[in-house]
Amino acid sequence: MATLQWNEKLVLNLPELDGIHEDFVTLLAQAEAASDTELLPLWRDIVSHTEMHFGLEDSWMHASGFAPDNCHLHQHQAVLDILREGITKGQSGNLAALRAILPDLATWFDYHAKTMDAALVYHLQSTDFDFATVTATTTATTEGANPNE
Ligand SMILES: [Fe+2]
Ligand SMILES: [Fe+2]
Repeated sequence: MATLQWNEKLVLNLPELDGIHEDFVTLLAQAEAASDTELLPLWRDIVSHTEMHFGLEDSWMHASGFAPDNCHLHQHQAVLDILREGITKGQSGNLAALRAILPDLATWFDYHAKTMDAALVYHLQSTDFDFATVTATTTATTEGANPNE
């Protein structure tokens, strides 16, 4: 059984983000259940999805004036670094390392969504943030990513 399943406590009532979060939870569950041959491709999907996900939130933070140098941005970067390192580990055959990270990643996300993401959504909604004017920045580098993607 997956460490984390989508549930109403994860809903932040921001459709632009809730769908992304639900897809992330689904990807994590698929990776936890994956065979050895499926795991690395799914891991790459998680990295790509997370680059989009965090890039979007980072864009909202920058565009809305949310504390420019804050813990939320730093957490995103730290998690992305771990995910990208996972590609290298997976490529070298260390799938056990990836399997060890997945439950921690699910537990981290459960807390992150309910705290930092919830605070960001509150900030955006309380300032009538105009989502239509913002497109995601790619703060992330592609180092370690699949060059074929
Ligand atoms: Fe998020
Ligand atoms: Fe976040």
